[in-house]
Amino acid sequence: MNLVKDLSERRGRLHKITYKREMAEKTVCHLKVEAPRIARKAKPGQFVVLKAGETGERIPLTMGGTDPAAGTIDLIFQVVGKSTALLRTFNVGDSIQDIIGPLGKPTHVEKIGTVICVGGGTGVAVMYPITKAYKEAGNNVIAIIGARTKDLLILEEEMKAASHDLRVTTDDGSYGHHGFVTDVLRKILDEQKDVKLVVGIGPVPMMKFLCKLTKEYGVKTMVSLNPIMVDATGMCGACRVTVGGKTKFCCVDGPEFDGHEVDYDELVKRQRAYLTEEKVSMEQFATAGKRGG
Ligand code: FES
Repeated sequence: MNLVKDLSERRGRLHKITYKREMAEKTVCHLKVEAPRIARKAKPGQFVVLKAGETGERIPLTMGGTDPAAGTIDLIFQVVGKSTALLRTFNVGDSIQDIIGPLGKPTHVEKIGTVICVGGGTGVAVMYPITKAYKEAGNNVIAIIGARTKDLLILEEEMKAASHDLRVTTDDGSYGHHGFVTDVLRKILDEQKDVKLVVGIGPVPMMKFLCKLTKEYGVKTMVSLNPIMVDATGMCGACRVTVGGKTKFCCVDGPEFDGHEVDYDELVKRQRAYLTEEKVSMEQFATAGKRGG
């Protein structure tokens, strides 16, 4: 890969980057990207697939928001491999080669009463527009967001504004409640009997344990899944998940599913399928970056 050539090719494409912010000790990046048609049509919970460059991998990313007036969409992603590491090197003024969307089914939002929105890690970015939508629909929205440590927490102010009551947790106790989002959720479910829905988005183990908990309390729970995707049109089968004993394709049937029905162990196994290849690819990218081409 020639990074210098790649940089020069980033100009003049359709989807120009208008804003960039790095968060969570530079492990998470927020880009605002011009995509007017997607910004006009997208609803909370939907995602896009993008290709950073001509030969790049297709990356599925759930939108963290849209601005139809400005014609931009918000992409908030964690640097987890070569493709997201490459995307992070893009700056304001650079452009992304291709973005398709909005994809997937939007979140079903209606006025139902008390809703608890739980976001862990970068799942908070996906949860943000959903939380906002539940509040705008007239629900009483309690939000719980968590991270391993204070510096890795994202979108606290935004989530505060999007909800009626925000609780924060950190695994190491450096900020907010010392412990997990599920500790706080259990406390609320003990105190408040009128919770109609819990929405959980974050790492798979978090969603698994959150659903185990809400099942105990008999509270309906939706989760947003993020499996490996390739075509994102329901053709390749890469994103298949088992929900209620049936095979579902996350890209067209999801990304949101009844959390009590998801086979999380299978999901983890499938997510780890290409870890070795991903590691090799990331090492090659880092080496090429150091050489400058
Ligand atoms: S990504 Fe291919 S079927 Fe969903």
